Amino acid sequence: MTAQALLKRLWGDYEAQNPQVSRIHALLEARGERIVNDHIALRTFDDPRVDLEVLARPFLRGGYVAKGEYEFREKKLSAKHFEHPDESLPKVFISELELHAVSEDARATIATLLEALPANVGERDDLPALGRPWRLDIATYERLSAESEYAGWLAAFGFCANHFTVLVNALTSFPSLEALNTFLIGEGFELNSAGGLVKGTPSDLLEQSSTLASRVAVEFNDGTREIPGCYYEFARRYADASGRLFSAFLAPNADKIFESTDRR
Ligand code: NI
Repeated sequence: MTAQALLKRLWGDYEAQNPQVSRIHALLEARGERIVNDHIALRTFDDPRVDLEVLARPFLRGGYVAKGEYEFREKKLSAKHFEHPDESLPKVFISELELHAVSEDARATIATLLEALPANVGERDDLPALGRPWRLDIATYERLSAESEYAGWLAAFGFCANHFTVLVNALTSFPSLEALNTFLIGEGFELNSAGGLVKGTPSDLLEQSSTLASRVAVEFNDGTREIPGCYYEFARRYADASGRLFSAFLAPNADKIFESTDRR
């Protein structure tokens, strides 16, 4: 599977599971916009069978190169981002939950989930799009989420794109990220306001905003429950002093963006 094919599959699953994505696309296209993906984000546990490095393998085989590294101590996450020499391909941001840092109960629960991983799952090119390979009951989801919203989300959805990101620079009818936010709010979307609607400033070289994940129906062992699914992110990048567009990420921005999937 090529990186392009993997990205296409991740996009198809993401759009199918999250109706807000198609709606935003349709609204932007109706204004004549052509949407460029800035980056996608994936989540995982730092278990050696499926950790960040393992999840990155299909992208590395597809020509992606490791770039920045990020730490989120309070959320017990670390992350890396990857770029492709073909700049028409989105950057890939992969984070992982540090299992040594969570409670013993959460660690044991996650270990039980991971027992259901297929053999040699780390060699599969489709691992990032595998979905949820384990069974999960509602109480376990609630318990994990109470300790770590990230862990609960990952337990419920498994391996898939957590979000795609519209590159605001490529939009022609919005002069600013604020203008896009105002448009989306006017269309009825709820945006993540943690740390303000816009995270980052032009002098940081990156401004980001995101929708709040809308609720999607998820099947658990003991019934179906509507929980926060995926969200859509919007990023505007600025050129540095040398004139090159900033291509990395900012941990303080990402820290708040993670909260777009929190239960409210
Ligand atoms: Ni992002």
